[in-house]
Amino acid sequence: MKISFVQDAPQQEAAIILFVGSDKKLVGPAADLDQASGGAIARALDASPRFNGKAEDVLSLPGLSGISGRRAVLAGLGDPAAVDALALQRIGGAIAAHLNQVGESAAVLRADGPIGLAAPSSAAAELALGARLRAYRFDKYRTREKPEAKPTLAELAVVVDDAADAAGRYATAESVAKGVFLARDLLSEPANVLYPESFSDRCLELAGLGLDVEVIGASRLQDLGFGALLAVGQGSARESRVAVMRWQGAPRRDDAPIAFVGKGVTFDTGGISLKPAAGMEDMKWDMGGAAAVTGVMAALAGRRARVNAVGVVGLVENMPSANAQRPGDVITSLSGQTIEVINTDAEGRLVLADAMTYTINTFRPKAIIDLATLTGAIMIALGHHNAGLYATDDALAESLVASGKAVGESVWRMPLDDIYDKDIESQIADMRNVAGSRYGGSVIAAKFLQRFVDDTPWAHLDIAGMVWSTKDSALAPKGGTGYGVRLLDRLVADQYESD
Ligand code: BES
Ligand code: MN
Ligand code: ZN
Repeated sequence: MKISFVQDAPQQEAAIILFVGSDKKLVGPAADLDQASGGAIARALDASPRFNGKAEDVLSLPGLSGISGRRAVLAGLGDPAAVDALALQRIGGAIAAHLNQVGESAAVLRADGPIGLAAPSSAAAELALGARLRAYRFDKYRTREKPEAKPTLAELAVVVDDAADAAGRYATAESVAKGVFLARDLLSEPANVLYPESFSDRCLELAGLGLDVEVIGASRLQDLGFGALLAVGQGSARESRVAVMRWQGAPRRDDAPIAFVGKGVTFDTGGISLKPAAGMEDMKWDMGGAAAVTGVMAALAGRRARVNAVGVVGLVENMPSANAQRPGDVITSLSGQTIEVINTDAEGRLVLADAMTYTINTFRPKAIIDLATLTGAIMIALGHHNAGLYATDDALAESLVASGKAVGESVWRMPLDDIYDKDIESQIADMRNVAGSRYGGSVIAAKFLQRFVDDTPWAHLDIAGMVWSTKDSALAPKGGTGYGVRLLDRLVADQYESD
């Protein structure tokens, strides 16, 4: 979809989007077009008792006489003076979804004139961002789709009084949207296409944005001592990899970076502790943490963020085979700590342990945040509306909660009490990779990870419930959500960027 910002409404055959507040009073462009159509808009409003101008509601009026557009769409704004950035994005999303549903290819969004928006040009950019996020689609493998099933919206012109200002704001937002789309693409790709090597190739492509990307192959991982990560991948025909993406945007190059680490299990069969068949296809998105990390690095580089950041993704495929690790195996992690692998399906923590040790030892980050589709247990606890947040640093935790609220990617803080730690004591090694019971499984996994971060301020996001959606939502069609990209981008913007 092509999005442009213009000062004057173009006279073209297009759908015209008009804003209406919760009082349903027609002001600005809506009032002008009501007059041009001989009061047809006011009559339609009167005849639509269920449309109250609430945010995200739309009322579609095709074929009005007296106006140039094919259709007027009344879009609810709620209280225009109170509507915040996220609400505006969701309104933009609702508009885009509606236009695609009714088959419009071009639309003019009237965010100009005295509508009552507090900051019209940033509002225009937020509306456009929402439309763009909602209009995303992963359709590269559909070859026989009927024309009437395809999305139609190709052009959106946003009319706003200060078009240049809105366009500038949108350009920044669009870089973040592209990071979200990269993450969604990676989530949607099937595991026969996206495996450690091909994933790391996509990371290498980000060098085009100015990122410094290094890929570490299996033999070097072996030499370096990534014993835990490699143990997970050893049953696979695909070679394990680690990709390291660096963005050096801070005024001082030697400023310690903020580090993001992602679980990139490109397919999780469970290994010898094999998962049941039903729903196993979902485990193609067990690289959701790595997707978020890759997406946010693309976003930071795309918008030239004034920050030093490093993104590290541990890429492996967890398969059962003659070479696979066995329950009971003892492995030595990069940190030197030994792990008794009781359950080969608790593999994400093994991958993250080494990826985090490497990140801390190599980059000495000021804080480290890992993201992982780590446990089914977090979905039992929080469902699909909050990621589980674990943190050793209260300020970092509070910042993540605030960023999550601001972008609509909520997190809920979970406990890290030491009492949980004794459940992973092992008879023969420094620790075991699972506890004796399933209860508190997400906390146990976090406690395991904590053993690998020493005193670096650390936060862990268990995002198993967040990266895939079976339902359309305000800002994303069903499928990969790209959860985490906007959250981390916002965290950087609010807490780590120099101005
Ligand atoms: N990738 C899974 C967690 C998961 C499950 C993510 C469902 C998304 C949807 C992870 O590797 C796993 O298998 N975890 C086990 C841990 C258990 C063996 C301690 C789990 O949650 O059952
Ligand atoms: Mn698993
Ligand atoms: Zn997994």
